[in-house]
Amino acid sequence: MTCSIAPGKIILFGEHFVVEGYPAIGLAVGLYARTCVEEGDLKIYSRQLGPIDPSSKEAKPYMRIIEEASIRYGCRNRYRIYIDSEIPVGAGMGSSAAVNVSLAHSLLETCGVEFTKEDVSRIAYLGEIMVHGKPSGVDNTLSTYGGLVYYRQGLFKRLNTSLPENIALIVADTGVKRDTGLVVREVLERYRRLGELGRAIYEVAGRLVEEAVVAIEKGDVSRLGELMIVNHGLLFAMGASAWINDYLVYKMINNGAQGAKLSGAGRGGIVIGIAGLENAGKIVKALKTEKVNAYLVKPDYEGVRSINTRISP
Ligand code: PMV
Repeated sequence: MTCSIAPGKIILFGEHFVVEGYPAIGLAVGLYARTCVEEGDLKIYSRQLGPIDPSSKEAKPYMRIIEEASIRYGCRNRYRIYIDSEIPVGAGMGSSAAVNVSLAHSLLETCGVEFTKEDVSRIAYLGEIMVHGKPSGVDNTLSTYGGLVYYRQGLFKRLNTSLPENIALIVADTGVKRDTGLVVREVLERYRRLGELGRAIYEVAGRLVEEAVVAIEKGDVSRLGELMIVNHGLLFAMGASAWINDYLVYKMINNGAQGAKLSGAGRGGIVIGIAGLENAGKIVKALKTEKVNAYLVKPDYEGVRSINTRISP
């Protein structure tokens, strides 16, 4: 049996504005989906969902990936697939992409063909289409390559840098499942209504992302934190936030975070924060006291990879 793990992701800067052609930055984070594949009859089993009927809606992305591997790489089309994921579902952390990427990777490994990460990302994207219709492709790109990815108008550039070592990254899950399509539509409606003013806000959001790249390269944590807060304010202005997002931003900052913002579509989903290592524990504790699921996450700079089946991700 071959097993692969693939990381989830967060959006650090630029969500929503990216829809109108402005840049955004995503980061792969160390919460993983693990998929194991072995030859056999066709069976799909998820640790979270139990057995999945291959003809069901849930199985569509997996069947599409198996089909592509069979057509393009001559792999067989019957495998036993075991899926396990620690990434929150429906929170904007790229859980479906991580499963699809880990499946594509372990399938090609089991099949024994030569392949590149580009192949994995491309096949996983076909699975993503089954889940999301017309996704931007950032989730499967981040999950495949890991690290920081700058993207704009469908072009992805892996940044050759890393976040400063001395910061902790906190993810708080509001537990509110958002409807990404609806939030995106309503934000765009406000953008159109605002006219000149809307364009000015988006211009600033775009410049903020460029400034964030510089702050990351310089390892300037306080600048980075401040830019996160401003980014949250711009998202609030466009109607992408909700009471719970703003509350958790305050909660993190009041407990010593240097910056915090909603991440992804907003109106629920997740809030991310950065803090000095000395404050991280206190922030997570304060969030947990409020019954909020909060995690300390580490960046993942490796992306999808094989793992020994005896080692848990
Ligand atoms: O919540 P997520 O990670 O699915 O991100 C949505 C990001 C948006 O910018 C709001 C939409 C998009 O397609 O880029």
